[in-house]
Amino acid sequence: MSKGIPPIRGMNDILPAQTATWQQVEAVARDLFAAYGYQEIRVPLLERTELFKRSIGELSDIVMKEMYTFEDRNGESLTLRPEGTAGIVRAGLSNGLLYNQRQRLWCAGAMFRYERPQKGRYRQFHQLDAEALGFAGPDVDAELIFLSARLWRELGLKGLKLKINSLGTPESRQLYRKKLVKYFSAHAETLDDDSKRRLAANPMRILDSKNPKMSGIIADAPLVTDFLDKESEKHFAGLRRYLDEAGCEYQLEPRLVRGLDYYTRTVFEWVTDQLGAQDAVCSGGRYDGLVEQLGGKSMPAVGWALGMERLVALVEQAGLASGQATPDVFFAMLGEDAEFKGMSLAEMLRNNLGGVAVECNAGGGSFKNQLKRADQSGAKLALILGAEECAAGTIAIKPLRTEEPQQSCEQGKLVDRVRQLLAADETDV
Ligand code: HAM
Repeated sequence: MSKGIPPIRGMNDILPAQTATWQQVEAVARDLFAAYGYQEIRVPLLERTELFKRSIGELSDIVMKEMYTFEDRNGESLTLRPEGTAGIVRAGLSNGLLYNQRQRLWCAGAMFRYERPQKGRYRQFHQLDAEALGFAGPDVDAELIFLSARLWRELGLKGLKLKINSLGTPESRQLYRKKLVKYFSAHAETLDDDSKRRLAANPMRILDSKNPKMSGIIADAPLVTDFLDKESEKHFAGLRRYLDEAGCEYQLEPRLVRGLDYYTRTVFEWVTDQLGAQDAVCSGGRYDGLVEQLGGKSMPAVGWALGMERLVALVEQAGLASGQATPDVFFAMLGEDAEFKGMSLAEMLRNNLGGVAVECNAGGGSFKNQLKRADQSGAKLALILGAEECAAGTIAIKPLRTEEPQQSCEQGKLVDRVRQLLAADETDV
């Protein structure tokens, strides 16, 4: 059988069997954002290409190799967002949200990167973003980390590890960069092709190499933390103290550099050993220079983004997914009169029993088939309306998950009876 036009590589359909877990994660996250005073912002999927070049960096892998960029009908270069932070800062500036104000924001949505697809790495993926703009101290770095740690806890996830590092200021990083170029140039013969390319463009990214042949020279490379200026050192010590006080475990990872250019000082990643090669579930850091770089007044900022596909996979693998929602009641209707009467009775149930899910058979079918559908729907009760019940003004109620016998009910008493039966079912559980 033809499967029609194929989907685009690396772009997934999220099917009904999975959306329940997505909604579960989103619901917990939404409540936590509210509990920490973060407000939702929604920004466009498309931005001017220049925005990402100026923020993520002209020489970053994302900008050089991974963006979906095209000209619109006006000849303007546009890009499907590869990440959320740049667009959120742009929106803050465009709408005056950053003028003498602080903002705690969150955002959810699809991102696009032309990467090589594999498990946990897709070309369309989804992030949940949290950004705090206008806060300079390490307290808010810690707050964002606590928020993410609480999210793992509330979802029931165990085993996520926090890695933290500090990249200092652009000035201190310049010194470090020089040292690093000198070091790697002295070992040029051991560098792989990717690292040779990075040496000129983005030497810190060499530290990110996954090539085992590179691990020796990377292990001996100078550390960014040895080049920190006094203020960055103090900031980093402050963050560690907040984490220590709260009993939030972390690992110092002086080779953690991150692939986006806008980071200053704190960077961090939550990693797992449950997902294979794509082990980062949530990553972020401070970007004190970005607002100014994009045309605003200088403003400190920090944030993170988590990968929804990876988080949902973790929840499913750990057996923590809540599963698909099922209807409470399935309405079987036999014959034309019953269909007309039944649809209006179903509406009456929905009007009077808020929150109770009623699935109607729709489209006819034999008694046997309708009862089979009722059973497959997962509903607790089947309501059965045939010509006889229509004539008598009654309806049959068949409990589907217990041994209770079928009973007949006057249509006028249906709301109360269904309410009672569902309540009894709740207390049985
Ligand atoms: P990022 O590390 O590029 O940071 O992405 C954040 C998270 O998105 C990753 O940890 C990962 O879980 C997920 N992710 C990234 N690429 C893919 C992919 N191709 N497929 C599936 N999941 C992926 C940022 O995007 C920054 N904007 C984070 C940030 C916010 N920093 C400050 N504020």
